[in-house]
Amino acid sequence: METIKGMKRTHMCGQLRSEHAGQTVRLSGWVSRARNMGGLIFVDIRDRSGISQLVFSPEDKELFDKAGELKSEYVIAVEGLVRPRESVNKNIPTGEVEVAATALRILSKSDVPPFVIQDDVKAGEELRLKYRYLDLRRPEMQRTLKTRHRITQIARKYYDENGFLEVETPILCKSTPEGARDYLVPSRIYPGHFFALPQSPQLYKQLLMLAGMDRYFQIAKCFRDEDLRADRQPEFTQLDLEMSFVDEDDVMTVNEGFIKTVFKEILDVDVQIPLPRLPYKEAMDRFGSDKPDTRFGMELVDLTDSFKGCQFTAFASVAEQKGCSVRAINAKGLSDKLTRKTLDSLVEFVKTYRAKGLAWLIVGQDEIKGSIVKFFTQDELRAIADKMGASAGDTILIVADKDSVVYASLGALRCELAQRYGLIDKTKFNLLWVTDFPLLEYSEEEGRFVAMHHPFTCPKDEDIELLDTDPGAVRAKAYDIVLNGVELGGGSIRIHNSELQSRMFEALGFTPEQAMERFGFLINAFRYGTPPHGGMAYGLDRMVMLMTGKESIRDVMAFPKVKDSGELMVESPGTVDKKQLDELGIAITAEEAEQ
Ligand code: AMO
Repeated sequence: METIKGMKRTHMCGQLRSEHAGQTVRLSGWVSRARNMGGLIFVDIRDRSGISQLVFSPEDKELFDKAGELKSEYVIAVEGLVRPRESVNKNIPTGEVEVAATALRILSKSDVPPFVIQDDVKAGEELRLKYRYLDLRRPEMQRTLKTRHRITQIARKYYDENGFLEVETPILCKSTPEGARDYLVPSRIYPGHFFALPQSPQLYKQLLMLAGMDRYFQIAKCFRDEDLRADRQPEFTQLDLEMSFVDEDDVMTVNEGFIKTVFKEILDVDVQIPLPRLPYKEAMDRFGSDKPDTRFGMELVDLTDSFKGCQFTAFASVAEQKGCSVRAINAKGLSDKLTRKTLDSLVEFVKTYRAKGLAWLIVGQDEIKGSIVKFFTQDELRAIADKMGASAGDTILIVADKDSVVYASLGALRCELAQRYGLIDKTKFNLLWVTDFPLLEYSEEEGRFVAMHHPFTCPKDEDIELLDTDPGAVRAKAYDIVLNGVELGGGSIRIHNSELQSRMFEALGFTPEQAMERFGFLINAFRYGTPPHGGMAYGLDRMVMLMTGKESIRDVMAFPKVKDSGELMVESPGTVDKKQLDELGIAITAEEAEQ
């Protein structure tokens, strides 16, 4: 057996092609598979770039014996001669060649891994996350993180070329008014005082505009102590930006340029720009959602007028009430699939959105059947079916309730049916802007209006007068970018005039003193010459998730958190020494300590 002089590799494992035949190469990596076949030992060696096949022959006994020791996930360095393979493996890029090994070094051994490291992994997510460093060795995970890297590089290049400066903002800050719960960090120097981790760099980026930076961007870590979902993590990353002397069109145009670039470079998809723009009201009326998935139809239809004064009193009374409506979707051609049992399960489904019930009409050739037909003549039912564009084989699903409940339940039902019955063209990337959001929404819990986006979002010029008289009707200069039913990002033009800002605080129910206490540093800063400005932030994890076709943002983060907001691998959060607590002036109460 020859010895390998250095451990330095000459090539990456995924690099070798037929043109390398005849060359002596050195590779380093992990043993993906080792098998003894007919007197030869074949070893697949893997690194980030891919896999190469090594062959050990018994002619060199010492080398052959050493190769016999190799097990999965051992780290090795190997030297050998590249030669054409007898039988080409078309499944891998290096499949035309193999390396006839002449020297081998075992750099480190491995215990038997808790699961086999391959794309078709059988292990559950918990086990994979506990051993995330092994899970990340899987080619699929490596591909995903590479794509994520490329997306951030494209973003950096694009925004740089468009005059944006990358500026870092603090992680230890004061609470930002974004609405979710803050993560707090106790201060040692000021016992009883806390930093908050940023929910977003919102206030700092506005201050950067005041500071004359003109255009800013950042790949920013954000922290929100909220319940986890497939597209939500307590610690996530925003692609955040802000621009001076701009209106909504300017922000949207520069970002459409980015979207076009990133989709072309990553997926070779040509996004048509400008993107469609859908006012909030229209999005709600048509799709029951402010993040509509437009890859399929089944749009909501307002049937309120059809049910006014009808015999079915439950619907008739809803139809008369302000802020309530009767709306429906047409499950086109699904009558066969929507059996009585399935319809009953859909009733339960809409109830999770606080709907009191779900009525249905099954449209036949001659007759319309269903849960509420006894209150109507066939002619009346046929008129409803016509309004819904329904014909034989369709089922109409109806909810009568408060508008917010009707939208939420039918919006979700529409997506559920499309998902269940395969109505979604998964090859599509439907991007659009939702614009003209309400500036404020009424919070029953707080008994006052709260900002839908944040308190610095600028109202539409033509709606400013309504701030005092009809705050709920004021529209904002705010916009979200939506991709396939997921909110990819959002932003707004900000208020830059202190008189308007005071009126906004008043509408939010803050006294001038309360406003000063919470946002004093920003209000004071605004007194020193504020440029008109606005911006937005993308959820970078969501962008990567959608562009790589993953179901969850956990699949595109190196070290995600799990359902109780902890991390399985390092077992965080953890307890700390009493000494550390004492330094911070923190005492744990008896009940907490028992948990
Ligand atoms: P917003 O709160 O809408 O706006 O957040 C912007 C985008 O960040 C993503 N996002 C999340 N992604 C993963 N996990 C989470 N918990 C999470 N929360 C939000 C979403 C969302 O669209 N400062 C403003 C932006 C601005 O006005 O410029 C902001 O943070 O994709």
